[in-house]
Amino acid sequence: MRISVIGCGYLGAVHAACMAKLGHDVIGVDVDAAKIDALSVGRAPFYEPGLPELLKEGVASGRLRFTTDLADVAGAEVHFVCVGTPQRQGEYAADMRYVDAAVEGLLPHLSVGDVVVGKSTVPVGTAARIADRLATEAPGTTLAWNPEFLREGFAVKDTLHPDRLVYGVPQGDQGEHARTQLDVIYADPLAQHTPRIVTDYATAELVKVAANSFLATKISFINAMAELCEETGADVTQLADAIGHDDRIGRKFLNAGLGFGGGCLPKDIRAFMARAGELGADQAVAFLKEIDAINERRRVRMVDLTRQVADGSITGKRIAVLGAAFKPNSDDVRDSPALDVAAQLARQGADVVVTDPEAVENARRVHPELNVTTSWEEAVEGAEIVLLLTEWQVYRELDPEELGARVAGKRILDGRNVLDPVQWRAAGWVYRALGRP
Ligand code: UDX
Repeated sequence: MRISVIGCGYLGAVHAACMAKLGHDVIGVDVDAAKIDALSVGRAPFYEPGLPELLKEGVASGRLRFTTDLADVAGAEVHFVCVGTPQRQGEYAADMRYVDAAVEGLLPHLSVGDVVVGKSTVPVGTAARIADRLATEAPGTTLAWNPEFLREGFAVKDTLHPDRLVYGVPQGDQGEHARTQLDVIYADPLAQHTPRIVTDYATAELVKVAANSFLATKISFINAMAELCEETGADVTQLADAIGHDDRIGRKFLNAGLGFGGGCLPKDIRAFMARAGELGADQAVAFLKEIDAINERRRVRMVDLTRQVADGSITGKRIAVLGAAFKPNSDDVRDSPALDVAAQLARQGADVVVTDPEAVENARRVHPELNVTTSWEEAVEGAEIVLLLTEWQVYRELDPEELGARVAGKRILDGRNVLDPVQWRAAGWVYRALGRP
């Protein structure tokens, strides 16, 4: 199938490379010339395991091309819209300008029979609005909504082997045509018995935000339990293990700690609240406000705990922060809890050095005032307190004896509950964590 992918960020670049891997002829489009230059020579503009290999393979095969010129999409039969829907400045609602611009730009290049497939996370009702527009301005074309559930760090695997496919399509022949085209595109995952749900636009749009709301709720639930553990001396990690054995609950996404961040969960639950408000259904998702608040409180708690461990004052204290990315195996610092805590500590007068294996450049761009280094050895040199805030494997494997020889004070705060307190305390460290005695 000849397909185009509009928007080559985390979602689009991975989608384009994976579609070429599935044997399709793909043209990726983005307005950012530097990004297109990198992708065209098989270089990933961000850190994503497995992506550079796929890009190189696709580009070498001739089946994967990139351009800044939207006119180059002519000839493709299916057009995936993969642009971002960030949170609007100073508001909860999603900024739809990139989606609208992508559709606007596509219009002159569409032919009868083409299918436009929305993958961006959008407020419910967007697909119906775009479908109306296509009906008048590009008659004979069809819109489908096919939400994406990929996790950063596992994006290639999640795209090639998704746990479900959701198609939001219109009724009748047009819907049938869109379904058939998507079935051809996803022939490989479908042959591996990936469940496929064919539904209407609104359901497809809601599936995505409902899934992210549920995941955010799971994390904030266990973090709320962590708050109670802190008051009672209980251990949230054991609590999670114990309730997680009930397979109606499940242990996944019950890791208590500094909470969720990234380009999706925080802004998606906020956009969901904003959209529900517009629909007069704000009560239905009012609980998300609390989910967001619990999540934000974890960052404040981490700063307070640091102050406590610093004997009441962090002013001038050398603090090493391990981790800047919002989660391991990513260089993404959007709404990163780790970077947020580092910035708050620095603002409050601490002498902070942040380290991350991949996110240093992005961290410097967002917080130029912070001292950031790729070398954890450099970051911990002379530190009076060490904070583990993003659970990269290299930090999980740190040896308490070796680290002890490098720091000025053996005090560690485990913001992700990934270290063994017994081992660290035995090596002479003061060990503190969120939700653990
Ligand atoms: C998420 C969804 O998982 C994905 O399906 C959707 O398409 C986009 O949003 P992603 O943002 O890549 O993906 O990260 P994810 O692995 O879900 O983690 C989100 C955040 O939650 C991270 O900050 C992570 O550290 C945090 N988290 C996750 C916890 O604090 N505890 C957990 O148990 C799990």
